[in-house]
This record gives sequence, structure tokens and C-alpha cells, in this order.
Amino acid sequence: MRRTTRKALINLGLFATVLLFIVYLNGPQSKTKTFAWNEIRYKPTSATLPKSRGICHGVSGSSKPVLVVSRVEADGDAKWLDPLAKLYHFCVYTVDAPDSDSKYLQVPANRGHEGMAYLTFIIDNYDHIPAAGAVFVHGARFQWHNDEPQYDNVALLSALNVSRALEPSGYHNLRCDWSLSTCPSSVPPQGSFETSSQAKLVPWDDRAASDAGLPKALAAIFGGNDISTVQPSASDAVRSQCCAQFVVSRKSILRHSREEYVALRQWLLEDNRGDLVVGRILSYVWHILFIDQGGLGSEGINLNKLNQRACPSAQECYCRLYGRCNLEGCTSGSCNGQYELPTDLKLPKDWAQTHGQMS
Ligand SMILES: *[C@@H]1O[C@H](CO)[C@@H](O)[C@H](O)[C@H]1NC(C)=O
Repeated sequence: MRRTTRKALINLGLFATVLLFIVYLNGPQSKTKTFAWNEIRYKPTSATLPKSRGICHGVSGSSKPVLVVSRVEADGDAKWLDPLAKLYHFCVYTVDAPDSDSKYLQVPANRGHEGMAYLTFIIDNYDHIPAAGAVFVHGARFQWHNDEPQYDNVALLSALNVSRALEPSGYHNLRCDWSLSTCPSSVPPQGSFETSSQAKLVPWDDRAASDAGLPKALAAIFGGNDISTVQPSASDAVRSQCCAQFVVSRKSILRHSREEYVALRQWLLEDNRGDLVVGRILSYVWHILFIDQGGLGSEGINLNKLNQRACPSAQECYCRLYGRCNLEGCTSGSCNGQYELPTDLKLPKDWAQTHGQMS
């Protein structure tokens, strides 16, 4: 055999071995895998817990669903909510308020983005969640992730039928379009070789960092004695919608004890990863906490079923949530003319001025 041929054969052999190894790491997902994600078992390290500054006045006994808003000072005032006052009871949290600011409700620390406000609402108002449910949203009216042709959350929240949204699973993300979600089967599992190499090669890629960090974070949050029952493997994809705006039933919130939410908030406060990273990790946890698994009980959560429920088709979702039915030109993850990702995920600077007078 000529030397170059032998070299080529050796190289080919090496290449095939590496390829087989990668294929093995990303091997087929077992169809019946269940995880012990029904209870938050994180053990806080801190001895003192934050005091309540998030008790929302009048939420007790409200016949309307509550609208929990997580705003930052830069969002401007929350007047944009006014047209929605007939439909929702507002609980507005400012995550970066100076201590003296008392106009809006407050959180223990500006950490984990909207996650801190959402958990603080649940913890401080646990016994008073309205029977009509709760809607959790961000503090600006126009944002790229609002799934509406004008990116307008007033339009979305006016059209939203909360009770219908809650019918199938007691939880629904407000987005129907699958862009930037992990719903498409083409998105690799969070613990895959592909995702972890991306996180290592591009350390400033927060998306990759939080995706790659998800399996271990789930193990930390759901705890327990056997890590294999809480930590997804390299081949287990957690499919879910993007962007952490959603609607939840009271029943789904009360499925977990108040102490569990306190523990989850402590995880958010005590984990030492970057703010954006833990915030994004938490955005993959909400649906795990809230989607009704229908009788699965204590054995755990079936990942395949969870994934299916977390990712309804865009067409079904637009119709159920916003009454936009019989849309044309739909794939599973989008319908013509409903939503487009803006360039660089940014709306033009004057978008609010040019669109704000519409309603
Ligand atoms: C919401 O949907 C339900 C059907 O699930 C319907 O009975 C109700 O009238 C709808 N509410 C509004 C405000 O359209």
C-alpha cells in the first residue's frame, strides 16, 4: 500500500470514529423518558429570606385574571396598561427600583430579569391568586418578542382569551410563532455536543451558555438523590416556546407549595452564573412547573408529552389564544403575515411613537 493511501485510510478511520462518537452522544431519544420534575427540591444556602415587598393590593377576590408586569425604569411609566383595566387586575413590579420608589411593587434583587418579579408575585400573593388565572408579561408595550404584527402587547392582551388559553394544559405561552424557540426538531438538545461546543467556543453567546447550562440547572432546581432522574442527557431536548410571557391557571400555580417558589427564587439569587444566563434558564422552567400532565402524578413528567404540549402548532395557537382562526399559509411554527423577527431583534427607535396612537 502506498504511504499516502495508508495515511488517507488512517485519517478516514479517525474521522469515522469521531463521527460515530458524536452520533452516539446525540443518540435517539427514548420515547418514554420521565423526569422527577414535579417538585422543586433546591436547598437554599442562605439562612435569611427576603422580606415581602410584593403584596399586590386588591388581588384577593378579583374576578378578573391578574396581569403581572415585570418592568424596568427604562420602560417608562406603565400608562400603556390603561386600556386593559377592564380586563385585568394589575400587579406591576419594578425590578430595578431604588428603595424609596413606592409607586410600583418591588422585588428582593434585580436578578434573573422577569423571573424575579414573577416569583415574587407568586410568593407574596400565594393565597390570593384569582380563580380566573394569571398572565405574566414584560414592562414595555412594544417589544420584538410580542407575537403580533405590530409587536403591540395591548393588542395581544386585549384579544387574549385567558380561559380558552388555559383549557388544554393550565398554561400557555403567549407566543405562537416558533422563531427563537426550541420547538423545531432542528434545534439540538440543550445538553448536546453541538450546544456545549458552541457555548465553549463563543463564551459571550448567552443563548448558547444558558442552553448548555440547562441540564445541570434542572438537576440543581429539582434536586433529589438520583441525578439521572432530574438531569436531561445529551440526547434529551426540552422543547419550549421563547420569551417568558405566558398565562397560568390558579390550579397550576398551586400545584407547587409556596416554599417551592421560595426555594426557586433562592436558586435564582444564589446561582453564580450571569444574570442573562440564569434568566434564560428560568424561561425554560415555567412550562415544566405549570403544564398539566394529566394524571402523571408522582412518577414524574414524561418529556415527550411535555414537549408536545409546550409546542402547539402556530395555527392552533393563534386561533385558541387570539381568535385569529383559519389562517393561511401555515407551517407548524408560523403563519403568513402574523409575525416576523425584526432585524437584529430590535424595533426601530421611533416604533412606539409611530404606533402608540393606534388604540
Ligand atoms: C373565551 O372563550 C370561551 C370558550 O372557550 C367563550 O365561552 C368566551 O365567550 C370567550 N371569551 C371572550 C371574552 O371572548
